[in-house]
Amino acid sequence: MHTPAHVRPTDWWREAVFYQVYIRSFADGNGDRVGDLAGLRAKLPYLRDLGVDALWITPFFPSPMADHGYDVADPRDVEPVFGNLALFDAMLAEAHELGLWVTIDLVPNHSSHEREWFQAALAAGPGSPERARYLFREGTGPDGAEPPNNWPSVFGGPAWTRVPDGQWYLHIFAPEQPDLNFANPEVVADLEETMRFWLDRGVDGFRIDVAHGMAKPDGLPDMVPMDDTGLLDDHGPGDHRFDNDGVHVVHRKIRAVLDQYPGTMAVGEVWVSDDDRLAQYLAPDELQLAFNFKLLTADWSADEMRDAIDHSLAAVGQTPAPACWVLSNHDRPRHVTRYGDGEVGTRRARAAALLQLALPGVAYLYNGDELGMPDVDLPDEALQDPMWFRSGGAERGRDACRIPVPWSGTQPSYGFSSDAETWLPMPRGWAGLTAEAQERDPASMLSLYRAALELRRSDAVSGDGLEWLPAPDGCLAFRRPGGLVCLVNFSGSPVPLPEGRVLLASADVAGGSLPGDAAVWLQA
Ligand code: BGC
Repeated sequence: MHTPAHVRPTDWWREAVFYQVYIRSFADGNGDRVGDLAGLRAKLPYLRDLGVDALWITPFFPSPMADHGYDVADPRDVEPVFGNLALFDAMLAEAHELGLWVTIDLVPNHSSHEREWFQAALAAGPGSPERARYLFREGTGPDGAEPPNNWPSVFGGPAWTRVPDGQWYLHIFAPEQPDLNFANPEVVADLEETMRFWLDRGVDGFRIDVAHGMAKPDGLPDMVPMDDTGLLDDHGPGDHRFDNDGVHVVHRKIRAVLDQYPGTMAVGEVWVSDDDRLAQYLAPDELQLAFNFKLLTADWSADEMRDAIDHSLAAVGQTPAPACWVLSNHDRPRHVTRYGDGEVGTRRARAAALLQLALPGVAYLYNGDELGMPDVDLPDEALQDPMWFRSGGAERGRDACRIPVPWSGTQPSYGFSSDAETWLPMPRGWAGLTAEAQERDPASMLSLYRAALELRRSDAVSGDGLEWLPAPDGCLAFRRPGGLVCLVNFSGSPVPLPEGRVLLASADVAGGSLPGDAAVWLQA
């Protein structure tokens, strides 16, 4: 058992800024074209200087990589491509020395098909205790040749695959990701063991993958057929694959383990848009945080953003949790691209950063947000996401938002790896996007993020909640209890600056007005 060298203040996460490290794409320490723990370790001082409080590291566990690590073959070890346990421990210790909290992904809903458990289930046959760890069922129709129900996989195709003895197993994601059976106490005990394994090493918490999955309804009834059952959208109560009431039992068990490690926390990936149902995950004995994807799914408009913010605050208002704001992650197009790409997308992304970081509660940044990384259109032959393959090419998948981070230099791989090639190709023309180039430029996205993160530590950006202020058409303005006023102009035309001392602006406000697609922080 490792004893953490640091003492965690209670609730250190309540106003924290987390930085999502998509491990494959963050930094390659050993020149094999894939990011890893050694690469991350070398960049810890950069993250400290950026001013974030905590990391979320995506799965780095042994995996055949059918879903780039979200198919876990052994939840209590490190994938050799990413390093080993000793490297993890060293990285963790160094992060703690630099004052960074470290959280890691926990993937309870499914395992890899290569996990020993699944292989044993295949070998043991129908009715065995080994099969009872997963969701094996007989098929329907003549000879059971039809799947047990009509559920689609979120990656395309049916959520069921047949095995040679005739049974079918459930996989909400890829066939290489069989769903575990959370009605089986052995499965719950195994999850607890995994949590303890990492908590004993000193991690400060978890991001819980598909936290609205895990529980499946009795009898696995057909779901209401839906046109678009795409990736991780919330389709409401007719979609029996997600958000079953039984999932809260699992969250209470997870919380009970965390409570034995004071100061540790979990954030859930909960794709549930109904405010009241989302709030249930944040009961005092469940998750401390749930990602709020309303900001990430809102278009660039004052009305949509206002609605997203109001609903997010209303959802957490009934719970002990703060709001938890996300603009981008490894599953969705990056916000620079969503907001129009190129110059306009970047302008809006600068404004969005000031909006996100002024809101009360927790903020999650995705690696590269601080550099203004856009999505990259990849040629077909470069695509790797299971969505692309499973949808027969109908969906291009998520590779575009997972391009490696550009660190320095003028040519691919821009200091990401010692190799010029990378697991997803990096485009030409990114010399100006590198951290090295932006560090020297006070007008860069990186400089804006650093300044905003520093100001976020001041009294102005403090206190619970916000007060909406009157604002010109196409704008939003609010005040935080600490005195910060944030004005965001979603329109195309300039508006007058409100009273107050300008602390930071995403565009030039020297003439006394805030240009379109820009935001400003003022001390009122
Ligand atoms: C992760 C995805 C992953 C899926 C299956 C999601 O919530 O963020 O990247 O493909 O879970 O594990």
